[in-house]
Amino acid sequence: MTAAEPMNKVTFDIARVRADFPILAEKVRGKRLAFLDSAASAQKPKQVIEAIVHTYTHEYANVHRGVHYLSERATVAYNAVRAKVQKLINARDENEIVFTSGTTDSINLVAQTFGRATLKAGDEVLVTEMEHHSNIVPWQMLRDEKGITLTVVPFRDDGSLDMDAFRAKLSEKTRLVAVTQVSNALGTINPVQDICRLAHAAGARVLVDGAQGIPHLHTDVQAMGADFYAFSGHKLYGPTGTGALWARAELLDAMPPWKGGGDMIRSVTFAHTDFAEPPHKFEAGTPNIAGVIGMGAGIDWFLSLDRDGLDAHEAELLAYGTERLAEVPGLKMIGTAAEKCAVMSFVLDCAHPHDIGTILDAEGVAVRTGHHCAQPVMEHFDIAATVRPSLGAYSCREDIDQLVVALGKVREMFG
Ligand code: ALA
Repeated sequence: MTAAEPMNKVTFDIARVRADFPILAEKVRGKRLAFLDSAASAQKPKQVIEAIVHTYTHEYANVHRGVHYLSERATVAYNAVRAKVQKLINARDENEIVFTSGTTDSINLVAQTFGRATLKAGDEVLVTEMEHHSNIVPWQMLRDEKGITLTVVPFRDDGSLDMDAFRAKLSEKTRLVAVTQVSNALGTINPVQDICRLAHAAGARVLVDGAQGIPHLHTDVQAMGADFYAFSGHKLYGPTGTGALWARAELLDAMPPWKGGGDMIRSVTFAHTDFAEPPHKFEAGTPNIAGVIGMGAGIDWFLSLDRDGLDAHEAELLAYGTERLAEVPGLKMIGTAAEKCAVMSFVLDCAHPHDIGTILDAEGVAVRTGHHCAQPVMEHFDIAATVRPSLGAYSCREDIDQLVVALGKVREMFG
């Protein structure tokens, strides 16, 4: 770098990023693919695909169980991923990372261990109106089993969380706040650091659902101040069936195991079982070995990006997409909070979201339509569904332009 060049020069190269994704070079329905469904699941770079193929081709065997060469190789590769996750979220210790099958599994683990062991009738779990079903239903199941109360913090009509309501609803009865970092249906970024501070002052623990946050925000669980953080590998350019739960070491120590089986024990007799230390205590059975290794490759790929450049790219694209969609007659954005990322949910006055999705698909544009597993969000706006284009690191202006042209065809068909 010369002295004349700015220190924070953005080197994010969208063409290079896109070249890592084989699918983006393919046509769908004879059209250029505009993949705008990364909030549901991100596409995979060749580095992830190759890591999985390499594992199964050259280094596959069960982990933690064999003294033979292949088991040792697989165990080393598998175990190395814990440190990658630690780096990704700045956990204090890699043993605070439990591998799970994804965010849903991580949240259920907290509900079934921390929740069942510590919550009692009359205790409150605070969730928000914008939670994904996976951060509602596990708490409802616990409510029905244990008589706890589920309290809901509403969001405002722009999609921002009502922090006055949050403060008002927080009480000495609140034992846990379960909140999403970013709403999958609205794109709202929640002030999770403030939420953790306020919740802790009230004596409550905080679980942050990071499924939508981790691919877009710089996540530092220590700075955030959370107690639990859940995320999925597949939204972070890794394979499906992978994810992690991070929890403070002292919480993992105190939490009972959930699933019993091999690899989570120290010793077993018919009379008694001594459990292994965390995180192994929570990882019964043969894990998703190649999947976890693939998740590690996804994390490596993600961390190799120029993050400031990626942030600038995604922010610019969200602004561009929001502006271009505003040109479409009869289109209403659902979720317009000042703090938002990556998601542009909308409804159109002339057609149902599912019909819109089908027409867009014929034009090579992939979006999710429906309630996005966030039915209370739909209820808030008195709608059944939205069309939800969402962005990934590989998204570009051409994708948005293709979407807007395809929406023009929707208007032509439906008037
Ligand atoms: N939770 C994922 C989504 O929002 C599947 O689409």
